[in-house]
Amino acid sequence: MSRVVVISNRVMHPNEKKPEASGGLAVALYDTLKETNGLWFGWSGRITTKEIKPNVKKDEGITYAIVDLTKKDYENYYNGYCNEVLWPIFHYRLDLVAYSKLKFESYKTVNESFSFKVKKLLNNEDLIWVHDYHFLLMARELRKLKCTQKIGFFLHIPWPSKEILTALPDHRELVDALLEFDLIGFQTRKHVLTFLDYIISELGGSVEPDGSIFALGKKAKVKHFPISIDTNKIIKISEETDNSPQVKRLVKSIKTDKLIIGVDRLDYSKGLELRFAAYNHLLKNHSDHIGSTTLLQIAPTSRGSVFQYKEIRKKLELSAGQINSAYGDFDWTPIRYLNKGFQQKSLMGFFRNSRIGLVTPLRDGMNLVAKEYIAAQRASDPGVLILSRFAGAAEELPDALIVNPHDPEGVAKTLNYALKMPKQERLRRWLNAFDQLHSFNINIWRTHFIDALETSIITK
Ligand code: G6P
Repeated sequence: MSRVVVISNRVMHPNEKKPEASGGLAVALYDTLKETNGLWFGWSGRITTKEIKPNVKKDEGITYAIVDLTKKDYENYYNGYCNEVLWPIFHYRLDLVAYSKLKFESYKTVNESFSFKVKKLLNNEDLIWVHDYHFLLMARELRKLKCTQKIGFFLHIPWPSKEILTALPDHRELVDALLEFDLIGFQTRKHVLTFLDYIISELGGSVEPDGSIFALGKKAKVKHFPISIDTNKIIKISEETDNSPQVKRLVKSIKTDKLIIGVDRLDYSKGLELRFAAYNHLLKNHSDHIGSTTLLQIAPTSRGSVFQYKEIRKKLELSAGQINSAYGDFDWTPIRYLNKGFQQKSLMGFFRNSRIGLVTPLRDGMNLVAKEYIAAQRASDPGVLILSRFAGAAEELPDALIVNPHDPEGVAKTLNYALKMPKQERLRRWLNAFDQLHSFNINIWRTHFIDALETSIITK
């Protein structure tokens, strides 16, 4: 098998192994690289004042090559174009976009300079796998440098509808560059369809039944590859947590058969404001839960220097405070709202001991928390997953209770239903979801993608 080269913004560097700080993406890629003695290239997470060479290190068969960003690029590329332009647009939040040409220029510069740096580390037979919205231009830049390797792209976030995407001034240039990849992967069928709609109705391109697309004089292949979790690993970790001191402390402090849990990066796309509103409706409209239920919301801060993220943080603090002061009592706190991350093993134990997993993003590429919640449950007494219809995971987990996060009263009704759900129904729903995760785990995701890339016969 060819060596796999992964290019992603976040790299789980051996010196800083903190998966929870690196995001789900980093955790998912680690095993692929280990098996192929691969190369992992990306941002170090650091800011520098001078242009320096990548820092290259080998650990457990993986070569890590990481580069710093200049302060200007950190502001205009990472905070700017990636997280104040592409992220809100791809999550359908045109109201939050803060666009400028300067940010796009910086995005182009970083894609160009990263390509230049990684090119020096490539072998001719490598398979190059580029990840996420930070590097939409990467194949174009590598082709300019005469790279003939197969290059695949996987988008971890949603691909927006044409009406939304065309609000972005650079939409055509981005898609033109995207077509330089041999294989373009999306999370769900729906994202593939919205992309094809753009190709056909905006660019006048054409699509073949095998997923080959032709547009702007270029050819590429498009397919959906729903990302998943390492199901067996999660099962094992969660079983081990029965003896974990942190989990024991949680169980002692709370009625776990009434515990609702949410775990999300602190991000407006996660729908946390509306989630708190739904919980408020639960307490207001179904008062039998007052004094017994708890919402444990874990939301580690994210992209803290971006304005929209500061705002959402303030709003959530206010909302949690209002609910706690309106309904709380001397011996009961309705919402435990924590702005910090936990080790994966603690989280899996928390999931295992919660009656409800509440996953209600307004838009989400996939959402691996939904899948982890299912895998972490006790087979003898599983909890209930409440899942937004706008998470990619809803396409694969129809046995979750599917909700519209924009309808907090509806979500409150579903919460009430879930808290009272008979064990038989909980078991049936959980088992169907669990079977799905057993058949489609992270190994299948990565082998499907790599196989499709390896067998792609497009010559650029
Ligand atoms: C999402 C993106 C990832 C990103 C992660 C954390 O899951 O799809 O590419 O790494 O968020 O965001 P951050 O900006 O902290 O890397």
